[in-house]
Amino acid sequence: MSSEPLLRVEDLQKSYGDETVLRGVSFDLDKRDVEVVIGPSGSGKSTMLRCVNRLTEFQGGTISLDGESVMEMDENTLRKRVGMVFQDINLFSHLTALGNVTLGLRKVRGMGDSEAESKAMNQLERVGLKAQADSYPAELSGGQKQRVGIARALAMDPELLLFDEPTSALDPELVGEVLEVMRDLAEGGMTMLVVTHEMGFARRAASSLMFLDEGRIVERGPPEQLFENPQRDRTKEFLDRLTSIAEET
Ligand SMILES: Nc1ncnc2c1ncn2[C@@H]1O[C@H](COP(=O)(O)OP(=O)(O)OP(=O)(O)O)[C@@H](O)[C@H]1O
Ligand SMILES: [Mg+2]
Repeated sequence: MSSEPLLRVEDLQKSYGDETVLRGVSFDLDKRDVEVVIGPSGSGKSTMLRCVNRLTEFQGGTISLDGESVMEMDENTLRKRVGMVFQDINLFSHLTALGNVTLGLRKVRGMGDSEAESKAMNQLERVGLKAQADSYPAELSGGQKQRVGIARALAMDPELLLFDEPTSALDPELVGEVLEVMRDLAEGGMTMLVVTHEMGFARRAASSLMFLDEGRIVERGPPEQLFENPQRDRTKEFLDRLTSIAEET
């Protein structure tokens, strides 16, 4: 057993040109941790996730997976170890649900067709979409498409799953089915780093809640602590605003 955290982010610094976006972000995630990240638009949430799986470069600090720097990791290995689910559901429209899930298994994992298909079917079943395996994205609802996206990420057997506002592009009535799949994953012990403003999910599934503002962690702790007893005014203001928006909609 290794004593390293699964994910260690240390003093992460990132700028785009002369705009500094992340100003020294540090945190650890252990296996089975579910970290929910909240913060205003432009605070750096997506950028932080994109640094973790190296979709973007960063200028300072280190990110390591089980003690191994992601900067030194072969990109294919990193893609297998860290899965990502985006807000925009980017499925291939010419492939069925099954085809979208098998693609990575064949291309990245080098599996044969039948092994890839049986593995992909298992993942579709896990997200409640076995019956839709042969449907094309145009024939699926937004919630179903997003669940295919989750099945696709799961198929790679990732050690860590990153979610960037996975429900914010969905019609309100479709949000629940996606959150339910995410809750199941959390309960099943998946390590997750989730940007979402769904505070019901944070309360029920998160082991920790992080409030990011202007590229810094303002406060981080168990969700109940941030909700009931925030240490910073800024945290309280932001959470109050989130709650009142949720009540209006
Ligand atoms: N590719 C890019 N090129 C230049 N600037 C960028 C790029 N991506 C993000 N930024 C800038 O970095 C800052 C942080 O963006 P980021 O997308 O990480 O914020 P966010 O917290 O995810 O916001 P939102 O809640 O709106 O998704 C913003 O000021 C944004 O304009
Ligand atoms: Mg974002």
